[in-house]
Amino acid sequence: MYVVHTALTKTSRMSKKILEVKNLTMDFGGVRALGGVDLDVKGGEIVALIGPNGAGKTTFFNCVTGIYYPTKGDILLHTPGRQKPKSLKGLKPNQVTVAGLARTFQNIRLFSQMTVLENVMIGRHCRTKAFIFGALFRTKSTRQEEKEIIDYSYSILEKVGLADLANEYSKNLPYGAQRRLEIARALATDPLLLLLDEPAAGMNPQETNELVTLIQNISSGGQSILLIEHDMKLVMTLSERIFVMDYGRKIAQGTPDEIRNNQEVIKAYLGEELDA
Ligand SMILES: Nc1ncnc2c1ncn2[C@@H]1O[C@H](COP(=O)(O)OP(=O)(O)O)[C@@H](O)[C@H]1O
Ligand SMILES: [Mg+2]
Repeated sequence: MYVVHTALTKTSRMSKKILEVKNLTMDFGGVRALGGVDLDVKGGEIVALIGPNGAGKTTFFNCVTGIYYPTKGDILLHTPGRQKPKSLKGLKPNQVTVAGLARTFQNIRLFSQMTVLENVMIGRHCRTKAFIFGALFRTKSTRQEEKEIIDYSYSILEKVGLADLANEYSKNLPYGAQRRLEIARALATDPLLLLLDEPAAGMNPQETNELVTLIQNISSGGQSILLIEHDMKLVMTLSERIFVMDYGRKIAQGTPDEIRNNQEVIKAYLGEELDA
């Protein structure tokens, strides 16, 4: 039912690791939410992070994107053209965005009183120089830059199929469109790696199908993607590799076929439909 990438295009851009997370550990008081998790994403790959509710998936994203400072572990970003990886540990969320990671949230976070276009422009501003200074003084170069931001933001909206709604308030968008707008805003930061936390949550089957197509389109342009998702059909359709967590620990990793047949995974998901 879904269009699947040809193996050739995928393998041809399959390359080195861009994100390398080692021994990531996060304690909240006495509670260990993450216990020594290793995970990597290679350039151009779609990787899924799955696991039952409370497994620690969102906490993993929060540590990697600078919302939490992990108790232990390393988070390394391999930037093209740079010999040494950059450590993301200890960076603030906005610094992580500038370094090249962009994310969406399990619970949608949009500026509801802003238009669709403005929400995307906010994402883009992190790549521009004269944001605050220029906004105050309205220099010629600021106006030029602003125009470029608008054009760029429109092009992203076209990509996610929201250009017609550019001037709507984001709060007026249907749910599935709001989720796509969050992805657009993340893409506007021009990320090396796009992190999606349950992008299909709350979507109806048609919206989910559209989301799968959108993620495939984004990926076919070479974008590396790490996604948390409960919808197993989506995970199995999109992912090249899957990491499985349970109770803060990684219990398995492998291809969709390997994960489908992994006894530990089946046990962790007891009672849930895995064989999508
Ligand atoms: N800020 C926090 N303070 C205390 N405990 C937290 C915090 N954030 C997450 N946790 C705990 O960490 C565990 C993993 O949560 P989470 O990462 O949201 O799981 P998942 O996204 O896999 O459903 C849960 O037990 C949760 O209660
Ligand atoms: Mg979560």
